[in-house]
Amino acid sequence: MKIELNQNKIFYNNGKSTQEIHPFWLRERVDGEEFLDKGTQQRLFDPSTMNGEILIKKAEIKNGFLEVNFNDGVNSKLDINKLETEFSNKDTVIKSIPKKKWDSTLKNVKNFEYKEDFYESKEMYDLLVSFYEYGFVIIKNVPTKNNYIVKFANSIGSVRRTNFGEHFNVKSKSNPNDLAYTTLHLSPHTDNPYRNPVPCIQLLHCIENEVSGGYSTLVDGYTVTEKLKKEDPASYKILTEVKVRFKFTDKTVMLEDWSELIHLDDDKNFKQVRFSPRLDYVPMLEKDKLDQYYKARKKLSDMYNSEKNRIEFKLAPKDLMMMDNHRVLHGRTKFDPDEGNRFLQGCYIDFDSTEGKLRHLKKKFNL
Ligand SMILES: [Fe+2]
Repeated sequence: MKIELNQNKIFYNNGKSTQEIHPFWLRERVDGEEFLDKGTQQRLFDPSTMNGEILIKKAEIKNGFLEVNFNDGVNSKLDINKLETEFSNKDTVIKSIPKKKWDSTLKNVKNFEYKEDFYESKEMYDLLVSFYEYGFVIIKNVPTKNNYIVKFANSIGSVRRTNFGEHFNVKSKSNPNDLAYTTLHLSPHTDNPYRNPVPCIQLLHCIENEVSGGYSTLVDGYTVTEKLKKEDPASYKILTEVKVRFKFTDKTVMLEDWSELIHLDDDKNFKQVRFSPRLDYVPMLEKDKLDQYYKARKKLSDMYNSEKNRIEFKLAPKDLMMMDNHRVLHGRTKFDPDEGNRFLQGCYIDFDSTEGKLRHLKKKFNL
């Protein structure tokens, strides 16, 4: 990538082709102290109100800076490295972390250890990278007093409050409004598929676990759906096309949202899975199409529930698990409440929290 000048026009050359940079694009990026607030890095002017007829009167490249005089009297020195990071036109921090596929053979994923000054540490950066690679991460030895999970969540970003509260207590109880609050086996699912937006990340903090059952289970929705795409493209296709209704009802609220079970991005790549077979309602489609849909959903369900795709482990008191609720499905094995207490606390945060923290730490440690 190179910036080149030719008769007061500025070009960038990406090695394959050369393209002129719009003068207004550069004018929007002037960063002298009268144009950009040093602390917030926010503009002190509003380019949307400016006349678009901006031209370059003079341009020079000196010591890594592009010195430009614009026709409205503004002169600026622009950092070429900084400009070049914008040419790729996409997020260079989060998207550059490749997702690692995993199944039941997954071994040696690093657990992290809570310590003082954890949230501003290099360890936290490594933790977040690992989270984006695998879709989950476990942190040992996290304090459990006074709903510490809320402090933990708010130290990475902000708790995403829902109608279950700021955080929720996962204990069996009478008259539960969700099967999570029973002692039953929970098959792999994603949480809250009926919300818009669906909470991005679930934190689950083990406070007590005295029972012999109650193992946590995780399945990588990314690995499974990519496998389905390869093995049975027709099933994959229908599950990426048919939008189903997810709903939740209790005494004070009726939540509803529609989505495909496998949601793709604009480039037809994996974006999000939702799976919660007690809450999904497919619309009344033609019988043949529904035949295909039900076959495909059964296949996906069999894959999600297969031992081959699942990891199973027991959370110990003070373990805190962070899961990508758009990628990873979670569940648990049943347990006997007569054996002792099993008490987990949960809450949600959104991707802006983890992404914001990761970018901040990457810059802070110059990584
Ligand atoms: Fe859940």
